[in-house]
Amino acid sequence: MRRYLVAGNWKLNLGPGAGRDLASAVGERLRGRTLHGDVLVCPPFVTIPAVATVAKGDPVMLGAQTCSAHENGAYTGEVAADMLKEAGVQYVIVGHSERRQYHRETDDEFRAKIDRVHAHGLKAIFCFGELLDERQSGRAEEVVRAQLTGVLPRLEGPNAYNLVLAYEPVWAIGTGETATPEIAQQVHAFSRAQVAEILGADVAANMRILYGGSCKPGNARELIGLPDVDGGLIGGASLKAEDFVGIVDGAEAAVG
Ligand code: 13P
Repeated sequence: MRRYLVAGNWKLNLGPGAGRDLASAVGERLRGRTLHGDVLVCPPFVTIPAVATVAKGDPVMLGAQTCSAHENGAYTGEVAADMLKEAGVQYVIVGHSERRQYHRETDDEFRAKIDRVHAHGLKAIFCFGELLDERQSGRAEEVVRAQLTGVLPRLEGPNAYNLVLAYEPVWAIGTGETATPEIAQQVHAFSRAQVAEILGADVAANMRILYGGSCKPGNARELIGLPDVDGGLIGGASLKAEDFVGIVDGAEAAVG
């Protein structure tokens, strides 16, 4: 049985004060409840220490939105995986479409970042997903396959527990438009089959594949209840405690 993961990607929102307030509001709502999955928040780097004071494990874990592909050295502006670990981070998002689009990050960098994350005992959440025109021209699966085969076969030590995948169709991110359950299930099953080919059937059976793209309390139960959807990567709706916890409630209802 795969445990669900509901992960909030705060993107470029919330400084230390507001971030701590949100994380403690989420923690208060969840504390004392028996959850059947995991809950994670991924603040901006500078907000991580403040959030760590209230969310560094049970019931809310702490993640980062990216990390350096390098271990240390002359890389101005970068933050290394071991620094994040020291700050209390357990998960690092890699390959988000906004990093692909605005920072021109490549498969080589994703692979190096995931290897750095794994080298320090952290877990990576690797994002992938097609653009609108790629879907409209019938190339969604081809794009997804290229994104997965460009990174997964070349990793040093991936397994079902240190790597989480996140399918985020770019046309659904921040648009209010959600993938239909049919599309989500189809791409998730296709992705799991790719993982089976690359890393083996056992790894594929246990690896969590999250859905991301306009996930909200109203659709979380249906999406996370799909056979190959193991949780959500949440942008906008992770910025309000009520909405984010509403999605956790949806996940609980989906597995319960
Ligand atoms: P939204 O939930 O705002 O669509 O963002 C999804 C996302 O990009 C999470 O990483």
